[in-house]
Amino acid sequence: MWGRRKGAVLEDDAEQVPAPMYRAPLPGSRVLAKRPVVWDGQRVGREMLVQGADATQHAEIIAQARSTIAATWRTAPEAVTFHPLGDNLRVLVRIIDSEPWLRSQQQARARLHGVHLWRGPSLDPAAGCIDFSVTTTDTIGRLTIWKPEAGGTHTWGLGSTGAGKTESFAAALQSAVLHPSQLVVPIVFDGQFGASLGEWEGKAALYGEDPRDVEKKLLIVEREMDQRVALLKSQRAKVLDPTPDVPVLLVVVEEAPEYAGYSGIMRVIDRIGRLGRKVLVVVWWLTQMQQASKAFGNAGSALRGQIKAGNVVVFHADSAAAMTGLDGALGQINPALIPKGVGGAHFLFGPMHPSPVLGRAFFNPDSYDTVGDADPFTFAWSEPVLEEAPAPAASGLAASLGLTPAVSPAPVHAPVEVDGCAAAVLAWFGGRRGVEASTGQVVAALTEDKQWSPRSVKGALALLGERSVLAKPGHGKWVLS
Ligand SMILES: Nc1ncnc2c1ncn2[C@@H]1O[C@H](COP(=O)(O)OP(=O)(O)OP(=O)(O)O)[C@@H](O)[C@H]1O
Ligand SMILES: [Mg+2]
Repeated sequence: MWGRRKGAVLEDDAEQVPAPMYRAPLPGSRVLAKRPVVWDGQRVGREMLVQGADATQHAEIIAQARSTIAATWRTAPEAVTFHPLGDNLRVLVRIIDSEPWLRSQQQARARLHGVHLWRGPSLDPAAGCIDFSVTTTDTIGRLTIWKPEAGGTHTWGLGSTGAGKTESFAAALQSAVLHPSQLVVPIVFDGQFGASLGEWEGKAALYGEDPRDVEKKLLIVEREMDQRVALLKSQRAKVLDPTPDVPVLLVVVEEAPEYAGYSGIMRVIDRIGRLGRKVLVVVWWLTQMQQASKAFGNAGSALRGQIKAGNVVVFHADSAAAMTGLDGALGQINPALIPKGVGGAHFLFGPMHPSPVLGRAFFNPDSYDTVGDADPFTFAWSEPVLEEAPAPAASGLAASLGLTPAVSPAPVHAPVEVDGCAAAVLAWFGGRRGVEASTGQVVAALTEDKQWSPRSVKGALALLGERSVLAKPGHGKWVLS
């Protein structure tokens, strides 16, 4: 309970406000009320409700008096924290005494250095977030995947080699997708060629390593995204909320700079950055390279801005200078506070933590077994996507005609019956060898000169072994395509 100030004496708290605080934290500001801070039944400090004198003494200005306040109460500056109340005039000042503050710091360090084993899937379907870490304040660091009625939230994870990106996000991914709600489906692209998230091969709805393969699979994701945009429009909605039928598609890109040089990949990632939020296509962009230019390739600052607008998780970085890619966000954290050699220690900020929290991520040393035991994720993509057949070499009939076969020819599947005319057709094709003719001209020649039945032509093609050339009868005409 707040104690009302009565002179310098407070009703529920005999503690006197030291003399400088009558004027403090700034001349003209007033201590409106005060209450003790109690941890584990022990009184460890006090909170004061301070009101500025006028609009010039807003919460930010009051916070500048931190060292004065700390000196007044003989405690560390970090033991003084400020909590604005949103009215731009009043601020809550919490002052923890020196001795309990030091003790709490030791406990915080112990939490940061202790390993926090993964506790199983932790997705909160009502809030769209997962438990990511244990913070130094003994709360849980939570990572937003989507916000109800606001859509998906991207994440950028970065740090030096060995800082804990892979293991921390591997556990986070399990937390999100192994939850029985089935609201999040994994899509994993491992730029470390299976050395990082290889356990997801054959398990994720899509899995890729090689950039060319990743590019192809991203086209499937893009098609799904476009289908969802159409769905949004038809529903006259602004944003989707996940259901098991329309789940969040979580695209985890590990060692992303490996792909940043591929324009086809970056084109789709860039589109996901811009459109994905509304239709629940979410990216986790994990990069070892802190420099923005390398982490996002030619897509550059626009994509970085989109992804950074979500969660940012900074693991230990070799130097503050290497973190220039973080831009303004860097101003909020002190990377030196992330201990070196403690894998998974990080600052996390984003929708759940507007003020960065320091913590250590949950860790699952049995990641391979956990994922191995899970059922593979299947997902009914909006439209079936056919594997692209390799372009056939110009051979047989096409070569004899000097034609290049079409890129995606369909084989002649139907069993072919060869009638007596097939031989004549063959002879005719033979006679045309070397003719410089477009497909259309060949069609014309076929239909004008000879009135062969479709069956005869099909049979002839089959005999030629020209299965890669599609022959389609239409209104008595033949099309070679
Ligand atoms: N959350 C965690 N809790 C405890 N230990 C961790 C955690 N994350 C990582 N580690 C430890 O740190 C080591 C390195 O972590 P990890 O492989 O995730 O680093 P990385 O940042 O992905 O490195 P690289 O960029 O080289 O791939 C792991 O082998 C593990 O022992
Ligand atoms: Mg890694």
